[in-house]
Amino acid sequence: MARNLRLGVNIDHVATIRNARGGRHPDPVRAAKLAAAAGADGITAHLREDRRHISDDDIRRLIQEIDLPLNFEMAAMPEMLAIATAHKPHAACLVPEKREERTTEGGLNVIAGHNHLLRYVGSLKSVGCRVSLFIEPDPEHVAAAHRLGAPVVELHTGAYCDSAPGPERDRHLARIVAAAARAAELGIECHAGHGLTYDTVGPVAAIQSIVELNIGHFLVGEAIFGGLDSAIKRMRALMDVARAEAEVAPGA
Ligand code: PXP
Repeated sequence: MARNLRLGVNIDHVATIRNARGGRHPDPVRAAKLAAAAGADGITAHLREDRRHISDDDIRRLIQEIDLPLNFEMAAMPEMLAIATAHKPHAACLVPEKREERTTEGGLNVIAGHNHLLRYVGSLKSVGCRVSLFIEPDPEHVAAAHRLGAPVVELHTGAYCDSAPGPERDRHLARIVAAAARAAELGIECHAGHGLTYDTVGPVAAIQSIVELNIGHFLVGEAIFGGLDSAIKRMRALMDVARAEAEVAPGA
């Protein structure tokens, strides 16, 4: 059954744990198979320039061994473009990448970076990848992504998730709501992700123009305590309940 809110499970940090010791355990491809069985609609993996978690071989195996669509997160750089065009994953999500950052700290600068990004969006589309741009939840950035010809944007939910519950978090949520509304107006598919947890997922899942959430670090962390299967199922259930309530009482 096609769902109106998909869950993409990001398996990067299974590879982080594997790489802490080298070797093969725990295997991110095994985690991807388990995620599929637990209700994920897609698998997301970020091949970073420094290969700190996902490896080239992981990408090769994910393409070959997983039935779910792969969302390949990549920096807009020639090396990653060559890998994406060779493997032709279902989707490619362009993300900003700095070597010194611990994680993807903000969205792409789709306004100042227009000329640079244009070539990447075009090349990825030409090999059949569904291209998304990971951007700040800002209507102007959504419009800039539209000018780049991106069919999808993914809104960065990190600031919302990191903020204190109350007025500050509400302000960040309002930015996500406004950006998602702009995407709907422009006819761009809207995704969201980064930092989402059991506590923060509901209000984002309730935004009806958002059709996909990509979630990783929290799920892998929770897997330590209760298993990956149960973490994914609980996240999936929280998303579904929030979306169903929003559909019954829109705007309430
Ligand atoms: N979406 C994008 C574009 C990301 O870069 C990341 C982090 O790799 C995520 C979603 C998932 O974020 P988290 O691991 O914090 O759930």
